[in-house]
Amino acid sequence: MSIVTSPRLGAMPHYEPGLTTADVLRKYGLDAAVKLASNESPFPPLPQVEAAIREAVGGLNRYPDGAGRALRRALAELHGVDPDQVVLGNGSCDIILLAGQALLDPGTTLVHPEPSFSLYPHLPAAAGAEAVAVPVDGVGRNDLDAMAAAVDERTRLVILCNPNNPTGGYVAADAIERFLDMIPGDVPVLLDEAYHDFVTELDRGRGISMARVRPNLMVLRTFSKAHGLCGLRIGYGVGGEAWIRTIDAVRQPFNTNTLAQAAALEGLRHLGETERRVQETIRERERVQAALTAMGVPFLPSQANFVLVGAGADAAAGTAVHERLLASGVIVRDGAALGAPGRLRVSIGTPPENDAFLAAAADVLGSPAAAAPG
Ligand SMILES: Cc1ncc(COP(=O)(O)O)c(C=O)c1O
Repeated sequence: MSIVTSPRLGAMPHYEPGLTTADVLRKYGLDAAVKLASNESPFPPLPQVEAAIREAVGGLNRYPDGAGRALRRALAELHGVDPDQVVLGNGSCDIILLAGQALLDPGTTLVHPEPSFSLYPHLPAAAGAEAVAVPVDGVGRNDLDAMAAAVDERTRLVILCNPNNPTGGYVAADAIERFLDMIPGDVPVLLDEAYHDFVTELDRGRGISMARVRPNLMVLRTFSKAHGLCGLRIGYGVGGEAWIRTIDAVRQPFNTNTLAQAAALEGLRHLGETERRVQETIRERERVQAALTAMGVPFLPSQANFVLVGAGADAAAGTAVHERLLASGVIVRDGAALGAPGRLRVSIGTPPENDAFLAAAADVLGSPAAAAPG
């Protein structure tokens, strides 16, 4: 027998998780595979962070600090804001979902880029609201003029993703500032900067400066990528106090756990070491992009820890290339599952992992005819 559910469930997008390494080894009878499919850090957490996690284990019989005071204070100091302007989440996903829960109702809209992070369409679907998906521009950046034009009196939330997942395109801070000037000042805006650490443009970081003075803006950051803590789930938002109160109103009291808070706090004490790892990833991103150029394989220049690579004229061709890479032990994400059919999203890993991708790509995509324009 079935159960009675909300009709909204029928509208929820289905998220197809990527294959695990174990799945691929079993399916293709391989001994080894490299996983470049989920934009993870190739580096394990720093040893000092691991030690802080171990130490915090002894206190797990107690509930976490529901206000995350120590971590919020440290983040506030880092960003030059008041602790009341920082909210923590069980990953930044948590804050994105909470924003949808707090702000969207039937009859209202969420304006978001497309293709972009697959979670965004869940928000209006869960709330019975409407999604207004605005295509990214030709180089994979949020099209801010088109997004501003899509904002109307029904808009209750705008999400910007910069750099954008899965395209890697980055819009300049000046353009974001202009966008914020174009829309009504009481429309809440989430600026999702999950990949901020990998940006090499000189204006990086200005999102948080804007959030200091614009009450309708919240900037989202995460410890999942540069800090290599995606398995622990901790992210945060920096924004005006009204924004923080909005998220606080709907979050569960203990939405971030003790180990995650301890790990993030320790991570903030070792930013130099994390930055060295980030620089290694950026150097590898540039190397992978140069190698793709040399092979004649199109891609979108990326400011993130992944690259969207052209893999065929259509979805079927892209999926076929994806299959061949899997069979050779290279796990990347088929763009067809991310709203980018005919392309592959390839995360940047360690040098040997990237070499494995490049060798397989040379085999499968090496002739320019194999890949459609990026
Ligand atoms: C654009 C974007 N935002 C947010 C997230 C979620 O990160 P977290 O692990 O902090 O929930 C991701 C994860 O891949 C992402 O790509």
